[in-house]
Amino acid sequence: MTQTQSFLPPIRSARPAMTLEMMQRTGLSEAVLTDLVHSFYGKIRVDPVLGPIFAARIADWGPHLDKMVDFWSSVALMTGRYHGAPVPKHAGLPVTWAHFHRWLEIFRETAGEVCTRAGAAHVIERAERIARSLHMASQDAHRAEGSVPNLK
Ligand code: HEM
Repeated sequence: MTQTQSFLPPIRSARPAMTLEMMQRTGLSEAVLTDLVHSFYGKIRVDPVLGPIFAARIADWGPHLDKMVDFWSSVALMTGRYHGAPVPKHAGLPVTWAHFHRWLEIFRETAGEVCTRAGAAHVIERAERIARSLHMASQDAHRAEGSVPNLK
């Protein structure tokens, strides 16, 4: 084990070597991702536009925050800890791109506050990509709801 590795706290991962390399490169760790998720949703919950959408669907925030730490450790550090399916959870939400834009604004701000510069760039790039694909999925779902009947 090198000197640098010995300073990094352990993290549960299905791919420990790859995860360790990404931690070293980005400065991200279990503690930083936990801080990112908790700080981010702390802001989301009091946001006048996004807060009510979450409040109507999440009664118990503890399990949601744990799930989101697993999600971000999977996305940012390849730990393989998240096994859910985000697309169907977002497909029926009453949202447009303006909501995703606001979500990203709060995410970028929080990442800048709690991550190193490289860590923030790393998670923001992934959040932007996932937001675009969740937005497309939600648009498709809205279109399917309002589509005209299939006349032969
Ligand atoms: C307009 C923006 C967004 C809104 C309003 C929103 C809202 C929500 C809500 C209400 C849930 C809980 C759903 C449920 O348990 O029934 C949820 C779950 C989740 N969201 Fe979002 N979200 C947004 C954007 C995003 C983005 C950009 C990401 C990823 C970068 C994301 C990742 C997730 C994940 C991983 C879950 C957990 C899904 C599961 O249960 O496995 N969300 N979101």
